[in-house]
Amino acid sequence: MMESALTARDRVGVQDFVLLENHTSEVAFIENLRKRFKENLIYTYIGSVLVSVNPYKDLEIYTKQHMERYRGVNFYEVSPHIYAVADNAYRSMRTERRDQCILISGESGAGKTEASKKVLQYYAVTCPASDHVQTVKDRLLQSNPVLEAFGNAKTLRNDNSSRFGKYMDIQFDFKGAPVGGHILNYLLEKSRVVHQSNGERNFHIFYQLIEGGEDDLLRRLGLERNAQQYQYLVKGNCPKVSSINDRNDWKTVRKALSVIGFTDDEVEELLNIIASVLHLGNVQYGGEDSGSAYITTDTQIKYLARLLGVDGTVLKEALTHKKIIAKGEELMSPLNQEQAASARDALSKAIYGRTFSWLVNKINDSLAFKDESFSSKNASVIGLLDIYGFEVFQNNSFEQFCINYCNEKLQQLFIELTLKSEQEEYEAEGITWEPVQYFNNKIICDLVEEKFKGIISILDEECLRPGDASDITFLEKLENTVGGHAHFLTHKLADGKTRKVMGREEFRLIHYAGEVNYNVKGFLDKNNDLLFRNLKQVMCMSENKILNQCFDREELSDKKRPETAATQFKNSLAKLMEILMSKEPSYVRCIKPNDAKQAGRFDEVLIRHQVKYLGLMENLRVRRAGFAYRRRYETFLQRYKSLCPDTWPNWDGRQVDGVSTLVKHLGYKPEEYKLGRTKIFIRFPKTLFATEDALEVRKHSLATQLQSSWKGYSQKTKYQKMRHSAVWIQAWWRGILARRAAKRRREAADTIRRFIKGFIYRHQPRCPENEYFLDYVRYSFLMNLHRCQPKTVLDKSWPTPPPALVEASQHLRKLCMQNMVRKYCKNINPEWKHQMEQKVVASKIFKDKKDNYPQSVPKLFVNTRLNGEDINPKVLQALGNEKMKYAVPVIKYDRKGYKARNRQLLLMSDSAVIVEEGKLKQRIDYNSLKGISVSSLSDGMFVFHVASEDNKQKGDVVLQNEHVIETLTKVAICADKMDDININQGSIKFDVAQGKEGIIDFTAGSELLIVKAKNGHLSVTAPRLNSR
Ligand SMILES: Nc1ncnc2c1ncn2[C@@H]1O[C@H](COP(=O)(O)OP(=O)(O)O)[C@@H](O)[C@H]1O
Ligand SMILES: [Mg+2]
Repeated sequence: MMESALTARDRVGVQDFVLLENHTSEVAFIENLRKRFKENLIYTYIGSVLVSVNPYKDLEIYTKQHMERYRGVNFYEVSPHIYAVADNAYRSMRTERRDQCILISGESGAGKTEASKKVLQYYAVTCPASDHVQTVKDRLLQSNPVLEAFGNAKTLRNDNSSRFGKYMDIQFDFKGAPVGGHILNYLLEKSRVVHQSNGERNFHIFYQLIEGGEDDLLRRLGLERNAQQYQYLVKGNCPKVSSINDRNDWKTVRKALSVIGFTDDEVEELLNIIASVLHLGNVQYGGEDSGSAYITTDTQIKYLARLLGVDGTVLKEALTHKKIIAKGEELMSPLNQEQAASARDALSKAIYGRTFSWLVNKINDSLAFKDESFSSKNASVIGLLDIYGFEVFQNNSFEQFCINYCNEKLQQLFIELTLKSEQEEYEAEGITWEPVQYFNNKIICDLVEEKFKGIISILDEECLRPGDASDITFLEKLENTVGGHAHFLTHKLADGKTRKVMGREEFRLIHYAGEVNYNVKGFLDKNNDLLFRNLKQVMCMSENKILNQCFDREELSDKKRPETAATQFKNSLAKLMEILMSKEPSYVRCIKPNDAKQAGRFDEVLIRHQVKYLGLMENLRVRRAGFAYRRRYETFLQRYKSLCPDTWPNWDGRQVDGVSTLVKHLGYKPEEYKLGRTKIFIRFPKTLFATEDALEVRKHSLATQLQSSWKGYSQKTKYQKMRHSAVWIQAWWRGILARRAAKRRREAADTIRRFIKGFIYRHQPRCPENEYFLDYVRYSFLMNLHRCQPKTVLDKSWPTPPPALVEASQHLRKLCMQNMVRKYCKNINPEWKHQMEQKVVASKIFKDKKDNYPQSVPKLFVNTRLNGEDINPKVLQALGNEKMKYAVPVIKYDRKGYKARNRQLLLMSDSAVIVEEGKLKQRIDYNSLKGISVSSLSDGMFVFHVASEDNKQKGDVVLQNEHVIETLTKVAICADKMDDININQGSIKFDVAQGKEGIIDFTAGSELLIVKAKNGHLSVTAPRLNSR
């Protein structure tokens, strides 16, 4: 909304004059303009009309960003701008499919042309485009510099004044892309070609060519780089202007020409024509005595002949003679100097004027949309009217008359359309209102254009009438015909005071925009716009292709008089009005702030004048007469609904009821507003301002509320999002877990099933049904084995192998045992090994043969049972160095009475020695030890059988001790008699010496008893041991 954009700067004054409190005051109006102008706010609205004040300096408000800001935005939402008008027209065209036009008016130098360029640029930048459209856009934009070069000039009012009127249609396709264009041009000020007032210039193109044209080009054209050399360029006495850079502009124009599609040849021909006009200007005449004129500058004729492509002599004749037809005969009548000069100027004007029209046609060709599938009926059009503004000079001529007449027509259109539309709106909305009085300038338009009675009719009449009509007779005729008109005055008709400021050759029109005196001099000629027939003929023969198109041979045979300039202009204006009426208009009213073309200067008098004649106050009055402010219900409610609890935050009922509730709550008085069909109308700006202020206050609290709820909302959404994500992830993860579990269960079931099947088929040969089971059994057997191998050789446990592994199991068991044994053997210590060896020997001898053997197994064999101190030193001495391997106490039974005697048995390296105290009682060489006998019982008796041939021997020896197994094992090892130990059942026989025999009888009894029996035998009762 407009109001929302009221930033501090924009609050300078009001953005819309409709909101001015004191709307009838011109002072207030101008003060508002001034305040805004000082802040470089050059745009202000009156309703939908844009008022623009020329800043005369570049403002940073035409950037691409600015264009974007206005694109598609409601008219009132942003500060006033030409782009808002352009965009609004564009959108109306798009949405309502109604052709639009933008009418730009204002006096010369007020900024019309600039405004129209801004509009064009806006469309070129913001409208959608395709490749083809891009060329159209470029051409549309580039048509401007070309037309300005040929049709604009420096005047006293404006350094770049448009000297022709321009109406341009921009065609858009259904997508809203510009696809073509068409230009209508109005009345070029041709007189400028041959004459300029002091301080003014000819058309830009002449200076551009001379300043910017390449040396080569100028040589070809026969031109010098010096404007002072050319009669047509020196009249105004100002060939150079500081604000104009002709050389740069030349480059721009050259580029633009090629963008538009001019070939190099066409450019060359065009420049030939421009150069030829300059040469024509320099054609000089001399006078003969007869008064006939002759040409004194032959070089010019040479150049002209070449540049125009005509015969030099024919041209020369045509420039000095006039063809007349008298009594059916053609005659060449010589011209005097003055006539010849004006014929020459007429030719220059004709050439330039027609070339300009040709140029416009050429541009139109290049802008025309050429797609055949696209009929212009489907195109929507935006028209842009940039026509010369109302202008008043010291001396005003036919051109000013036409220009100001044109502005009268536009003003009339403006009045009609704005009033009409305002009125229509009230009608449509069903609002009653009183019509406003305004100045209707139809009366002035009629004065100028009315048939038979209007000034143009009178002028034409004078031009056509036979006899010597002149500008003065025209003036008289005016006085006679329209002398009584309220808006017409002449010197003769004026009162004394006015006479002082009027020449005798002038007539005054009281225009809507002010009073202008027109000098009638030249009116007839300019209206006739005559070119002598012979000059026309010459031009028709031109070899220059452009001129060839400009001067049509048919024209020569056409006997009908062409329409006069004024009538042509009148008719083309009528056509223009028709075009504009058929479209929906938007208005841009341009104001120039001072006459000095200076930035920052606000000339109040000048501006008041423009405000007045542009009818801005009336415009405002009309707009305000009814209601200052209007909005559609939706828009109004949307903006202000926060001010009433019933409508906030939403109104559910009809919009109109919502608005009604809202304004009642706001305390609007019944006379302050009216409710139409779709809009609310508010009469006074202060009502709206109060509402707007209330909104401003409300906004702050709303902002806080909004902020907090927004924060809450955004946090909540954030949380929701996170929660949702978490739930999502959870669900996925659970899914994955469940799927995994299911898979495991399935596999487990499969396994069990296979297992059971395998179990059932386990005794069958390997087959698919049981292979798994069998493999598993094998596997588990091996694994079990791996885990519970026997740890020691004594551990005989071994898992039961499955049938398939019985053999393998045996191998393994063996291997395992071997391994353990090997390990055991490797780790056994020498002492233990020794012990072991002895035990092995004992086992070989006694195992399963002697009863007390088992008791001996767990008892370790000791190295010796007698230490050094237990043996008598004498014995030790007697034994000398001999190594004693084992010593043990024994009991010896003598052979006669079997008396028991304590002795010691010592085992030496090669003999066993029996010792009694300090005496070596008996030494038995191992060699002579024939054998050793023991009983199979548990007694400790043993007998050494000694060889009897040895004299020294005293027969076999009967001994006994408690360590019989150990002692005998030692003896067997020392004497190497393992195989010579006899184990006897019942009794042992032994030699008692000299051939006598002794017998020992063994019996088992409860305890050990050794006695001499009655039969002389030694009787041994051996205790029975538990193990047996
Ligand atoms: N919006 C604007 N911003 C800056 N300068 C401008 C603007 N409008 C006009 N002018 C200046 O004023 C001069 C005259 O403007 P122009 O549009 O040619 O006037 P008009 O066509 O109404 O006679 C321009 O050459 C330019 O220097
Ligand atoms: Mg202009």
